[in-house]
Amino acid sequence: MGERIYTLIKNQNNPRSELFAHRIIDWQQQHGRHGLPWQGADAYRVWLSEIMLQQTQVVTVIPYYHRFVARFPTIAALAADSEDAVLAHWSGLGYYSRARNLHCTAQLIMQRHEGKFPQHFEDILALPGIGRSTAAAISAFAFHERRAILDGNVKRLLARYHAIEGYTGEKKIEALLWQQAEALLPKRDVAVYTQGLMDLGALVCTRSKPQCPICPLQADCAAFQGGLVAQLPTPRPRKVLPERHSTFLLLLDGPDILLEKRPGSGIWGGLWCPPQVDPQFLSKVEDASAYCLQHFGTESKHTLALSTFTHTFTHFKLHITPLLLQVINKPTQIQEPGLMWLDVDDALQAAIPTPVRKLLQEIQAGRRLM
Ligand code: ADE
Repeated sequence: MGERIYTLIKNQNNPRSELFAHRIIDWQQQHGRHGLPWQGADAYRVWLSEIMLQQTQVVTVIPYYHRFVARFPTIAALAADSEDAVLAHWSGLGYYSRARNLHCTAQLIMQRHEGKFPQHFEDILALPGIGRSTAAAISAFAFHERRAILDGNVKRLLARYHAIEGYTGEKKIEALLWQQAEALLPKRDVAVYTQGLMDLGALVCTRSKPQCPICPLQADCAAFQGGLVAQLPTPRPRKVLPERHSTFLLLLDGPDILLEKRPGSGIWGGLWCPPQVDPQFLSKVEDASAYCLQHFGTESKHTLALSTFTHTFTHFKLHITPLLLQVINKPTQIQEPGLMWLDVDDALQAAIPTPVRKLLQEIQAGRRLM
């Protein structure tokens, strides 16, 4: 505490911003999150946690983080393993380009940084998949460097604190928020401060039902003082998402299902999925069997269309209709490297996206009932 007062006295050139930082730091120490598994860990673990925590909540991340570091305990171990293994440990977390970037960045760190995570902010920022805010969070947590973060939660908090109107994803507004984030940065205790900002954004200054009565910034918060908390930050201008349709061909041969590896980039890049086909190519259900014979050399008969469900990505909605096809006769060898027959139990351990996991679980449950 003495040190904190000393910091305050020393930085009287901007007492308002120091007061802000002081309140955040004190609040973090009393009410913030402590004992998160990556707190105080090495730069590799801090990096991993920051990537996992992009668009994903702490409670969701914790079990993934533990499984990931148990399997890949070092950058060298991560670099040496296969992309398939990395994606399998990411399966269910979404935004799979994060996992692919993590894997290739580990290889790059082996080549360019002798396996040691770089310490300098510019070198961290130059790594694939690491933007300005993530580089700053890693610098602050792993190296106690004085860098400003601006993730989604902090954007909301600052937009309210300064009553800044306008969509925070807009360049002009974002630039203004970065200016504020830099101006408010304390001279010391940057790791606690950074954690405090994140915690306050996630726990108190929430998007809906913010807890203003317990907020340490209430007295200075322009949105609170002006009765604007519910209006800020200004929501993203609503765009109608385009809609697409896809048929999933669930080719079943006893306990096995056919999976196809998706191309490296694009949605579910590098993950294993049942073969997908644009429904406009299947004008009648028998077309699905003909398609399977032509593409996979597998004779099958269509048995059942499961209900269509919708998966929403950031840029479009995908309506998925799963078709169950019972294999009558399949080739003994699969020629194509991007195809594999896998026991459904094993498929559930593979690198598959969440909607496929749900479908496989339904198939398993259906079998148990039979
Ligand atoms: N969100 C992003 N980084 C985080 C961290 N280190 N702790 C908690 N939430 C976070």
